[in-house]
Amino acid sequence: MDQWELRWQEGRIGFHLSEVNSYLIRHSEHLLKQKVKKIFVPLCGKSLDLLWLSRRIKKVVGIDYVRQPIEEFFIENNLKYNIQNVDQLELFKSDSIEIYHGDFFDLKNHKIGQFNAIYDRASIVAIEAEQRRKFADHLIDLLTEDGIILLIILEYDQNQMYGPPYSVPFSEVKNIFSKHGNIQLLETIDIIDERFRKKGLDRMLERVIKITKK
Ligand SMILES: C[S@@+](CC[C@H](N)C(=O)[O-])C[C@H]1O[C@@H](n2cnc3c(N)ncnc32)[C@H](O)[C@@H]1O
Repeated sequence: MDQWELRWQEGRIGFHLSEVNSYLIRHSEHLLKQKVKKIFVPLCGKSLDLLWLSRRIKKVVGIDYVRQPIEEFFIENNLKYNIQNVDQLELFKSDSIEIYHGDFFDLKNHKIGQFNAIYDRASIVAIEAEQRRKFADHLIDLLTEDGIILLIILEYDQNQMYGPPYSVPFSEVKNIFSKHGNIQLLETIDIIDERFRKKGLDRMLERVIKITKK
């Protein structure tokens, strides 16, 4: 069984927040100011951020390859939904939120179109190092020319702990995105706490980054 499927099944979902992400609220002006009509949330789990975004943006589209969080998202938030098949993916659809059940790498932009905005929290840090450039290229393919990505990464000494969440240093973000876009660091906070100290870490930086296409 896939490690994410197992995590969801066993309830090992420390990454899931019971409230809306505070960075999203704090930096939302970057996402909202250019009249975004359609936002993409890769590897969305059952994040409440989807709900918060749907109150401000007409269409919110997510994807996760585990079915459980998708079903739970609609049920726990009392949203009516139906399920359609789109190629080899399932699409869970409510009025303003749609979540694909399938692999992010199987999403084709000619089918779902492009987005003015992409919000990535706990997504790129869930992708193994060898696949991260492909992940970045694919995200960029889904972004319109005037689009913006809000990316939240974690940075720590990968010798002290092995992910996921993986450490994705700012230098790596610059490396994989710089050919496509302008990269701006908006905020950095050291979020080290007892949970991570027990795992052997002495520092855990969380960074918020804005990427716009060149
Ligand atoms: C760390 S969780 C983050 C969920 C969400 N972004 C949040 O903030 O709560 C990562 C999620 O990505 C999903 N996932 C991992 N690899 C994926 C892939 N290649 N395609 C689609 N979903 C994937 C996992 O099932 C998991 O729900």
